[in-house]
Amino acid sequence: MLHANNSIDPVENAFARDVVAGLSADVKTLPSRWLYDERGSALFEEITRQDEYYLTRAETSILRERQSDIADFVESRAILIEYGAGAGVKTELVLAGLRDPYVPIDIADAFLAETSKRIASRFPSLWVRPIERNFLDVFEVPFDGSGGCRTGFFPGSTMGNLNTIEAKTLLAQMGRHLGDDGRAIIGVDLQKNVDTLLRAYDDSAGVTAAFNLNLLERINTELGGDFRLEQFEHAARWNEIEKAVEMHLVSLCDQRVTLCGRTFNFRTSETIHTESSRKYTAESFERLARSGGWRVAEAWQDADGLFGLFGLTRY
Ligand SMILES: C[S@@+](CC[C@H](N)C(=O)[O-])C[C@H]1O[C@@H](n2cnc3c(N)ncnc32)[C@H](O)[C@@H]1O
Repeated sequence: MLHANNSIDPVENAFARDVVAGLSADVKTLPSRWLYDERGSALFEEITRQDEYYLTRAETSILRERQSDIADFVESRAILIEYGAGAGVKTELVLAGLRDPYVPIDIADAFLAETSKRIASRFPSLWVRPIERNFLDVFEVPFDGSGGCRTGFFPGSTMGNLNTIEAKTLLAQMGRHLGDDGRAIIGVDLQKNVDTLLRAYDDSAGVTAAFNLNLLERINTELGGDFRLEQFEHAARWNEIEKAVEMHLVSLCDQRVTLCGRTFNFRTSETIHTESSRKYTAESFERLARSGGWRVAEAWQDADGLFGLFGLTRY
């Protein structure tokens, strides 16, 4: 709904609400899920093809090399529910042996529609039932398929973008969606030397920088903001306490930005924290899984030990 001054109402619009709250905080921050509008989702796919971004190559190599172990783990009768499906490229590697339905969940509506269409045309007998939602909201997955247990798939290290409370919330929600016989496959990035990690989030071609800055463009377009993109720059920083790579947008001067009828002041070098990507060890991921009601039954890694894919069963 528009205010009298033509601005978006932050009470009714979730994006506006998060942006106003995040920029009003002492340490400015924006939830990373808003990075994925149509352009952001396309830029993310481009990031996955950058030399520095080893994560997708490593995870895909596990999915290829351990395909039959993974198929045994999910069982041919399982229904697949994918959290944060994105382009669903990796999904095709686990879908081969599965039956109806495939339920991709993502907050990025246009991208979700495109992915669902592509997968439906590649797997003509598969019933594809997309759900456009924030997977941290509480909701049901109503579709019954050809019977059998449900499997959750959460690749792409998206788990690492969630703080501990959000991660536990999602693991508990996955437990409700997947049931007592449910199984889940979750991909997370592993701790390694900090230079390698930082390069993955600050590629030399500047694609990650464009992905991060696109969030300001999105605010300008959707919330009538007046961010001047040339007055901000992308930075990737290591947070040793959180074991996370953080993406920030750094203000290059003292400046003032207006959106949703409100004004926000930025000092030179002040940042907006736009994403954390937490890095795990096998042990720290196991602890997290346990805290959300899951047990690690299988653990697979790529040949270089960069990335971990974990097969979980319910406690
Ligand atoms: C890092 S990308 C991973 C995409 C893909 N799964 C892969 O492995 O390449 C994260 C995806 O999760 C989606 N996403 C992030 N936060 C979300 C949320 N809270 N609810 C639903 N989808 C979310 C984004 O829109 C994006 O498509």
